[in-house]
Amino acid sequence: MTNQATEQLREQVQGILAEPTGTNDHTLQRRIRWLKVAQLAVETGPGDFAEIGAMEGDTTVPLCEIAEKYDRRVLVVDPWTTGTQNCQGHEYETFVRRTQKWQVSGVLHVIRKPSQSELAIIRLLGSPWAFALVDGLHQYRSVVQDAMSVRYARVICFDDMNMPDVTKAYEKVLTLLPERVGLQDPTLAKKWEGYLI
Ligand SMILES: C[S@@+](CC[C@H](N)C(=O)[O-])C[C@H]1O[C@@H](n2cnc3c(N)ncnc32)[C@H](O)[C@@H]1O
Repeated sequence: MTNQATEQLREQVQGILAEPTGTNDHTLQRRIRWLKVAQLAVETGPGDFAEIGAMEGDTTVPLCEIAEKYDRRVLVVDPWTTGTQNCQGHEYETFVRRTQKWQVSGVLHVIRKPSQSELAIIRLLGSPWAFALVDGLHQYRSVVQDAMSVRYARVICFDDMNMPDVTKAYEKVLTLLPERVGLQDPTLAKKWEGYLI
């Protein structure tokens, strides 16, 4: 991506961050924003989507819809291990039920392993993603490693930045990828998600 294209993408994402979402539910607000950013990323350039940590597929489903429309692919990495981050035991079945048609059509590929596993890292590193969502295990080392695994993405989005480990990891990754700029909506009371572009 040229410097001009990167600068333009940053400006457009800042515009999205400033737009009203039409809901007070902060979970929905941030999903609305990052899906707009994901769509922008495929409208303005090449690449597929990666989602690390997908739970029941609330983000995966709309990512697949966008991917289908723009002839792109989605890679999901999640071990769905009961008792780990946000996983209580029923999530994988729900995820499969909701996303099966895209798995069958080849739009969606799923790696049911921790994102820190060798297979996942190789797959995540191997593609210049248009948009990558880092939303798996919210521990400092894991978040840093996950973000570095998708370091060739045009947009790297971090969720749950209200958690100190995630914020610390976001700041660390900014130092590891100094060509990137970190974007969060400064007007939000809680800066729930952050974008490295
Ligand atoms: C916050 S939820 C993801 C929410 C989802 N992105 C969404 O928008 O609805 C966290 C997910 O991380 C997954 N997870 C836990 N440990 C993981 C690991 N080591 N690697 C990847 N994902 C992990 C959990 O199984 C859970 O589904």
